[in-house]
Amino acid sequence: MILLRAMRWWDIAPVLELERRLFPEDAWSPGMFWSELADTRHPRATRWYTVAEDADGRVAGYAGLMAVAGEADVQTIAVDERHWGSGLGTRLLIRLLRQAVEAECEGVLLEVRVDNDRAQRLYRRFGFEPVGFRRNYYQPSGTDALVMRLDHPADALAGASAGPAEAAPEADPPKPTPPKPTLPPAAPTPRAETMNARALQARALNVGA
Ligand SMILES: CC(C)(COP(=O)(O)OP(=O)(O)OC[C@H]1O[C@@H](n2cnc3c(N)ncnc32)[C@H](O)[C@@H]1OP(=O)(O)O)[C@@H](O)C(=O)NCCC(=O)NCCS
Repeated sequence: MILLRAMRWWDIAPVLELERRLFPEDAWSPGMFWSELADTRHPRATRWYTVAEDADGRVAGYAGLMAVAGEADVQTIAVDERHWGSGLGTRLLIRLLRQAVEAECEGVLLEVRVDNDRAQRLYRRFGFEPVGFRRNYYQPSGTDALVMRLDHPADALAGASAGPAEAAPEADPPKPTPPKPTLPPAAPTPRAETMNARALQARALNVGA
């Protein structure tokens, strides 16, 4: 049985082990997780982080959300390969969407590697739609990010099971709408305030490159 609970500072070490394995090219640093967790669990928190813990107390997955001014961003979501296909990614995403609804967000954005089909399928099942690209978003590889958006996360949750397994909602047929052309670069704009941490890291790497 796998339980979801709030991520705490003592989870950073096991989460980092998974992070480095699952995101070998652009893993977050310990400092990024510390910084993200610093903005949780207070009255004006803008971050919500969850870990999935197995029966032996091992971290099997984790996910994080940022919510600012009615808009949410999926900061990260990852599942230990040993649990892929078990529905854990779905459970974590449901958890993030519930937090977005609680934070009164009307939309949820995320960036995903253009070559990450598995994650894109997960997002599409919940109704996320492509809205554009961020070129050279993931460094150092220079892989593009597909930007996806979900409007009205409460509606997406309506089809999701509230049972312990939190099964997937009814699959939405893939939308034929092609993504719009390249979005403005993730450069210093008002949007920077709500950019996710992976984007900030990518920018930092760009600067140093
Ligand atoms: C993307 C990721 C989070 C998905 O996690 P997951 O636990 O495999 O996700 P789920 O099990 O909920 O869904 C994956 C597939 O398993 C299927 N599935 C879920 N529960 C199932 C079950 N009980 N029996 C059979 N199949 C099941 C789903 O339908 C889904 O199928 P699809 O890919 O054909 O749509 C995971 O692959 C991962 O951590 N990847 C590396 C990190 C990453 O890329 N993160 C995303 C960054 S944007």
